[in-house]
Amino acid sequence: MHHSLSYTPTPAPSVFHTDRGERVDMRDVVPQDTLLLADLLLRLSDATRWLRYFAPGPQSFARAWQEATRMAQPRTRHHAALIATIRHGDSEVAIAVAEVVRDQRTATIGELAIVVRDDYQTQGVGSALSGRLALSARAMGITTVRADMLYQNRAAQRLMRRVFGPATATRDRDVVTMIAHLSNAISCSM
Ligand SMILES: CC(C)(COP(=O)(O)OP(=O)(O)OC[C@H]1O[C@@H](n2cnc3c(N)ncnc32)[C@H](O)[C@@H]1OP(=O)(O)O)[C@@H](O)C(=O)NCCC(=O)NCCS
Repeated sequence: MHHSLSYTPTPAPSVFHTDRGERVDMRDVVPQDTLLLADLLLRLSDATRWLRYFAPGPQSFARAWQEATRMAQPRTRHHAALIATIRHGDSEVAIAVAEVVRDQRTATIGELAIVVRDDYQTQGVGSALSGRLALSARAMGITTVRADMLYQNRAAQRLMRRVFGPATATRDRDVVTMIAHLSNAISCSM
């Protein structure tokens, strides 16, 4: 096997400005982000949680904390997570989180998941964070990304094509699985 599975540092934190001109910082998740992530999960609307989890998702503080703890684990060779934050006075507030998890059977495939807080959707945050995630995935030796989304989820399908380029899509009942090659991702072609 020629692909590298060794740990490679992800790119430095970066700054993005939303379509409304608001500054957003994007960086690796660290364990200290658990509270920020739990707060983000608890603020999601029912509809957004459903689109992310295909189920009601974390609704109580205990479940949100559990999910946030999972997301905030230190980066490994098999899992990377990025967080997007804004400044609110002196504090940092999470508005999005994106993850890539290596497929257990095919090491060069990564499973993507992302959620953007409702009031920050449609402003380019999901695209920017996914572009960064493409770099993290590539640093993990991942060459192909896969994402499951509900059939009705046009935003996720458009995001996937916008960021990762040509993608194949297969449908099984309500769920669409999209697969794309990282060599076509916008952040990797620069
Ligand atoms: C999917 C999601 C991450 C997109 O994030 P976002 O920040 O709103 O996306 P962007 O603003 O970067 O837009 C990305 C693309 O989606 C399109 N889009 C965004 N919201 C849309 C909507 N409600 N309906 C249709 N298209 C939409 C944008 O127009 C853009 O496509 P384009 O470049 O072809 O115009 C966000 O809507 C979300 O968190 N949804 C709930 C969770 C989810 O669905 N996760 C994906 C499955 S794990």
